[in-house]
Parts: sequence; structure tokens; C-alpha cells
Amino acid sequence: MKHPYTMPGLTLGILGGGQLGRMMCIEARRMGITTICLDPSPNPPAKGVADLCIQGDLYDPVKIQELAEKAQVLTFEIEHVNTGYLQTLETQGFTIYPSPKSLQVIQDKFVQKTLFAQANLPVPPFARTYKELNLPFPLVQKTRTGGYDGRGVSILADETQVATKGLEGETFFEELVDFDLEIAVLLARSPSGETAVWPVVEMVFDPATQICTKVCAPARIPAEIEQEAIRVSIGAVQVLDGVGVFAVELFVSNSNSNGAPRVLINEVAPRPHNSGHWTIEGSLTSQFAQHLRAVCGLPLGSTDLTMPSVMINLLGEPGAQGKPTIQGYEQALAIPGLSFHWYEKSLVSTQRKMGHVTVTRPNLEDALRLADQAQNLLTITGEPL
Ligand SMILES: Nc1ncnc2c1ncn2[C@@H]1O[C@H](COP(=O)(O)OP(=O)(O)O)[C@@H](O)[C@H]1O
Ligand SMILES: [Mg+2]
Repeated sequence: MKHPYTMPGLTLGILGGGQLGRMMCIEARRMGITTICLDPSPNPPAKGVADLCIQGDLYDPVKIQELAEKAQVLTFEIEHVNTGYLQTLETQGFTIYPSPKSLQVIQDKFVQKTLFAQANLPVPPFARTYKELNLPFPLVQKTRTGGYDGRGVSILADETQVATKGLEGETFFEELVDFDLEIAVLLARSPSGETAVWPVVEMVFDPATQICTKVCAPARIPAEIEQEAIRVSIGAVQVLDGVGVFAVELFVSNSNSNGAPRVLINEVAPRPHNSGHWTIEGSLTSQFAQHLRAVCGLPLGSTDLTMPSVMINLLGEPGAQGKPTIQGYEQALAIPGLSFHWYEKSLVSTQRKMGHVTVTRPNLEDALRLADQAQNLLTITGEPL
């Protein structure tokens, strides 16, 4: 079938101009695709790499319409957007991927989990209230919408903490999974239903903040777990009728009564994801290039691993504020196989994602060791404006 777009000249509109939007725009430039970002900030990370940045709220119908009319395909780099208006645009014939419908399901973690459970995909036991859940504490409470980077997740040790540590707004409760490992399956699905899956990765979190600090590709897991993780992840994206790149976060635990490892879906992100940054250096097709291919209805690229890779997030130090400064830049760049990525955010704050590094080496042990060195060398602090 002849593709409907004339190349070069295809214009992609992106809701959001954060680091994910920025990295999409960098790939788009390489591929001859024009990009326009909508972002509330006057100076978002995508500025300077997008062909055009429109300043505006991601819930403002006027601004979203302006973006849509300038582009042939619309996508987003953040879930917190006006899905209702995107649905209106879709009925008017605009091409939007992932579809506003799949985004709407994902936006509400409770609806998302319900859909997976109905499709017989494995999720931890969950319920609207802890009484309904009927499991012993400790339990996890989550906000249904708006959470990210551990904001909107609270671990409650006992019933008294529901009052003291409980979350505001619409929430739900789930089992505190005693997992051995958190893994992620990154995959792309095209409008025709073709899928391409990258090797499964390990995600390492800071236990205090629940922020992902490190990603290790490939994951050090047995083949059966990898296959099961891929099976349920493809299932989840199919149930969502997802088009684009999706990241499925999973728990691997040994806590089954028969001792068999179990794989549980935690949540799905309908976009390129922190767990896939390593693909820029470590795979034949980066998650950003693949997302462009998928949402534009182009053939998907090879997800082969080129070399084992370890990614470290560069987060603002505790108490950091003001203009960001990087310590250890030169020493880190001396590490063999290290690639440095900076998001050009104008302000730093505690735990804010400011950039990342990926170390790519012929063997994973070396990549892990060198990534740890990089982590020790690099600190992101702030100086007064
Ligand atoms: N049911 C659970 N059991 C154990 N740990 C959990 C559970 N849910 C979340 N967590 C921990 O909190 C982290 C963030 O939770 P998640 O639901 O993925 O929220 P976010 O939207 O902030 O990524 C997870 O990656 C995991 O480390
Ligand atoms: Mg998560």
C-alpha cells in the first residue's frame, strides 16, 4: 500500500515538550520528520530541537486544536493531557496515536488494572478500599490519576497509617508485592497490529522515593520469565489497542505458594519511557525512532540489542534549586562507552530528572561497574539565579 505521507514533509504534533518530547524531536530531525510541540513552559527541553514550540496548557482545547491543524499526526509524551478534547479531534478525522481511548484507560490506574484483570492478565490483587481488598497490612495505596515518579504511591504499614499517611483524592489499594525484581518490557505496536519487542530490562528503584535510578539491559532473568513477561505485555498492549511505543512495568516475585516465579503487571505507560533510554545506544532502533515509525504508520525497525547497556538517571541532589550545575562531567566522559544526555531544564529541584547517562559495553558486568562509577562521579546541584 502506498504510504499517504510525502517525505520529507511529514509533520508530527507532540503534546508535551519535556525530555521525552525532546528525544523524539532529535530522532525526528535525523529522519526528516518535522516536529511541533505544545508545552506550558516558555522554555521546555524540546525547545531548540523541535521545529516549533507552541506555549500552552495541555488541557486547553484552543491550543490543542492549533497544534492539530499544523500536523498530520498527533502524539503525546506525557499522559496528563485533555483526552476528552483529543477524542473530539479524532471524530473530526485527525490522526492521533496512541488513541485517546487507550490513553483514557491508562490515565486512571484503577480502570487500567480492571481492564487487565478482565482480560486475565496477571495484576496484584486490588480494590477501591482496603476493607474490600481484605488483605493484611502492609498495603499500597495509589492515586487513580496524576501520579508519576512515585508521587501518588504510599506504603501503609498498618491500619492507623490510613489516616496519617493516606493519600488525598480518588485512590485505590493493592497488595504490597514482595517482589525480587522490577522489570520492564518495552514494545512498539503499529496501526496494523505488528509488534516489535526489545529485550526485557531490569529497573532499579530508590526504596525511599520509589524513583527509578538505574536500568540494566538485558535483564538477568531466566528465559521462562522473560517469555512470560513478553507474553503478558503484548497482551496488555493489545487489550489497550495501543499504537506507538509502550512500556509495561512488571514485578517478578517468588512468593507463589508452589514456589514458581510469578510475573505481575504493575502499570503501562503509553509512550517512550525511562526504562527505554538505553535503546538510543544499545539497540539498532531507539525507542524514540520506533515511536515515530509506529505512530506515523511506517514499518517498525529492528529491536536487536547492539551491546549490553546500563542507564543511570541524573537526578537533582537533595535540596538543589536554581540554575543546574553538573559536577564530574569531564571525569564521567572519560569512562569508556559512556554517552551523556542532558535535558536542558532551566531549573533543578530535588530528585528532578535532569539528564541520563548510558554505558554500553561488550559485557554487562563491565557496563554495570562503569555505570556505578559514573553515578558516583556525577552530581547535579543548583546555584542561585
Ligand atoms: N503493589 C506494589 N507492591 C510493591 N511495590 C509497589 C507496588 N506498587 C508500586 N510499587 C513501587 O512503587 C513504584 C512506583 O509505583 P507506580 O505504580 O509504578 O507509580 P508511578 O506512576 O509513580 O511510576 C513501583 O515501581 C514500585 O517500586
Ligand atoms: Mg511506574
